[in-house]
Formats: sequence, structure tokens, C-alpha cells
Amino acid sequence: MSETRKRMILDLDTGIDDALALAYALGSPEVELAGVICTYGNVTMRTAVRNTCALLELLGHPEVPVLAGADRSLAATAPFAPPAAVARIHGSNGLGDQPVSGWCRCAPGDGISFLREEVLRAAEDGVELLYVPTGPLTNLALALGSISGLADSLGRVTFMGGALAVPGNVTSCAEANVANDPAAADAVLRGGLRTRMIGLDVTHQAVLTRKDTAAWRDLGTPAGRLLADVTDHYISVYEQNNPQMGGCALHDPLAVACALDPTLVGCLPANLRVDLEGPTRGRTVCDPDRLRDEEKTCEVALTVDVPRFLGEFRSRVARTLA
Ligand code: BDR
Ligand code: CA
Repeated sequence: MSETRKRMILDLDTGIDDALALAYALGSPEVELAGVICTYGNVTMRTAVRNTCALLELLGHPEVPVLAGADRSLAATAPFAPPAAVARIHGSNGLGDQPVSGWCRCAPGDGISFLREEVLRAAEDGVELLYVPTGPLTNLALALGSISGLADSLGRVTFMGGALAVPGNVTSCAEANVANDPAAADAVLRGGLRTRMIGLDVTHQAVLTRKDTAAWRDLGTPAGRLLADVTDHYISVYEQNNPQMGGCALHDPLAVACALDPTLVGCLPANLRVDLEGPTRGRTVCDPDRLRDEEKTCEVALTVDVPRFLGEFRSRVARTLA
């Protein structure tokens, strides 16, 4: 039996804050990172695989399996290519246009087969399996359709995405991860799975400044320098687009943090759905058909203990970079 009582699978569209989420998970001693399933969003799925492999190598964990996942939304007929606006935010390579290199060693098989095996392995080992998507929910929607009993066997999924009581960041209603595949998000939120939504309501409160990236750069290591340079790109985009925030939002690391410690956020239990058509397409909203259901499948994070989260973020990323 494994000594670790928790395992985690990350489902990343590996751009800048996904990279920080990876660093957070690797610096968390209470959890073993079982693997990373890649998806599209900030970059193409293939670029997400390459970025994830390069980051794992740089951060000293080349043993973590990296799996190819969905390369397009449920409705798309061609692989997703990020629009220019997204390439500006995360850089055209997803990592702030910093040169990244490394051996691209995608594990054999696909993300869904990997998830199926990991669910069985976790049950055999008596280990809790935490699934944390920080990109579009396409992989999870496909898995729900092809792994029988997944909603019961997986436990609560903590995902970054959505916005309940604040505006979206793609349109006034839609957050980027949900906007990239509203049908997948809707299938996940209405598919019986227990979820915890770490959306813009809380991630826009968790802000990182250049003081932190300067400390990483001062380490003088290749990993510290790269993480600092990549994150400074993200901060400079926020300085242009959201100067009132005073730094960049730590969207994806907050989801990893809350999967490990849900007490970091205060949640509203709710049954959610996603608007699929019209001007509110991509909006996460309470499902009128399940409003009076006693059981609520989603915990929507609305408050966050920012100082405690930032303390955890600093110490865990420092552990990864040590
Ligand atoms: C989310 O969209 C992506 O650009 C980020 O990586 C994050 O997961 C924020 O809306
Ligand atoms: Ca992401």
C-alpha cells in the first residue's frame, strides 16, 4: 500500500497559471502527483503536453506521466488553436514566450484510459484520488461518458472555471475554461459528479506580485529564473488589462490548493448548469430545474482566505524550487 493517502491527477491546458498549479502540486508533501492529462485552451493540446514535460523535467519530476487528452471541444470538428488574444496573455508558446526545451515524453495511451486505471488503482490501494481540471472540462465530460460509475468512484472534483456572482473574463458572462467548451462543463455539472467550483469569484482575489517572482529569480537556478520570467509575462498582461488588481490572478494554483484543503474557501452549495446558446453562452448559473433538490452536487467557492492561501502558495512553490 502507498504511504501517501492522497493522489492527484491534474488536467491542464498548460499555460502560465497551470505551470504554477503544477509547481504547487509538486511542492505538496501530502499528495502524490499520479499524472497530468493535457488539454487545449491556453495552447493546443500538443503544446500543453510539450510544456508539461518541459516543466516536469525542469522542476525535477520527469517520472510523472504526461497523457494526451482532448484536442478540441465536444462540438468542434477540428483541433483547437488558441486565438491571438489568448496567445498574448500566455505567450504564443503558452509560457510567456520564454524558450522551453525538454524531452517530450508523452506516456502511451490516452488520458481517459489512464484515468480509468488510476480510479481502480486508488480503490485497490485505499487512496483518495483528487482530480483537478484547470482547463476546459472536455476530458472529464468524455470520461463521464465512457467510464461507468465514474461519478460515484471519483470523489469530489475541484475545477478552476466559471463565475457565479462576478462577471466573466471572456464575455460579461463567461469564464475562459467554461467558454471553451460550455457543453462539456454542463455535462460535468449536471452529470451527477460532486464538484467544487473555484471560479473567478475567488481566483480574482488571489493575486501574486513581482515581489514573489523576484524571490524566485534570486534563487539563481534555471527553474527559479524560468518560473519568474514566465510569471512576469503574466503579471505584465494583468498590469495592462487589469491594473487595479496589482498583480496576476492565481487561478489554477487556487484550485489545487482547495483540492488539498477545502477550508481555504467558503462555498455555496448549489446545482449548476451552463448556458449553451445566445449572449449568455458559457455562463455558470443555478439550474432552475434542480433549485429545490435537497442534494446539491456543487460547492461554489465565493470567499477565500487569501493570506492563508498565499502563505501556502509561497512555501509550496519554494519547496518545489529548492
Ligand atoms: C482560466 O483560463 C485560463 O486562461 C487560465 O489558465 C485559467 O485556467 C482563467 O479563466
Ligand atoms: Ca488553465
